Amino acid sequence: MKLTYYGHSCFSVKIKQKILLFDPFITGNELAGHIDISKITADYILLSHGHSDHTADAVAIAQATLATVVGAFEVAMWMRDQGVTQFHPMNTGGKWTFDFGTVKCTHAVHSSSMPDGSYGGSPMGFIITAEEGTFYYSGDTALCLDMQWFRSSGPFRFVILPIGDNFTMGVEDAVQAAKWLGAEKVVGVHYDTFGYIKIDKGAAVAAFQKEGIDLLLPGIGESIEL
Ligand code: NI
Ligand code: MN
Repeated sequence: MKLTYYGHSCFSVKIKQKILLFDPFITGNELAGHIDISKITADYILLSHGHSDHTADAVAIAQATLATVVGAFEVAMWMRDQGVTQFHPMNTGGKWTFDFGTVKCTHAVHSSSMPDGSYGGSPMGFIITAEEGTFYYSGDTALCLDMQWFRSSGPFRFVILPIGDNFTMGVEDAVQAAKWLGAEKVVGVHYDTFGYIKIDKGAAVAAFQKEGIDLLLPGIGESIEL
């Protein structure tokens, strides 16, 4: 599966010729100034929660691509109210089979409000199961024991976890999460974008390596094969 990183917690994964774009926050990210959102294609846009550092470009990209927006009920209804016409509301614990595979919405320990302050429902992560394999994107979350249970949905070809600390888990807890999930490959997200979440990338890679886990930190705009 090809993963392209767009900075912060935004990335796309190509599965069965379908492009799934997660948590688009690009135009407001100084580090992603070289990314032109009008060139981003997507068949689905998955939103883990309502915070603007995960949803800021969702309306524009959904309207330009006619991608289906998938997220919590409240997130999907807010997107509808902004003029998005294709959406699929879900909620924690729910699962749905799309044309690329299955999305299961997992519990995330965080908060969720929309950019205008309205209620965003429950924050979530996603377990995506397709013919090519299964991966997990935790969304913004603390480390939680539920991750031991999520392992039963694996084995995970890779997992995507926040590592920036302060608003989410940091490196130490993300290493524990990866161990509980049985993951050998972790793509780190939600770091370096703001002052609160700047990290030492070398130290982060070393902390994962110590446990035999590869921490991948693709550059913004870079694609990797997983
Ligand atoms: Ni958040
Ligand atoms: Mn966030």
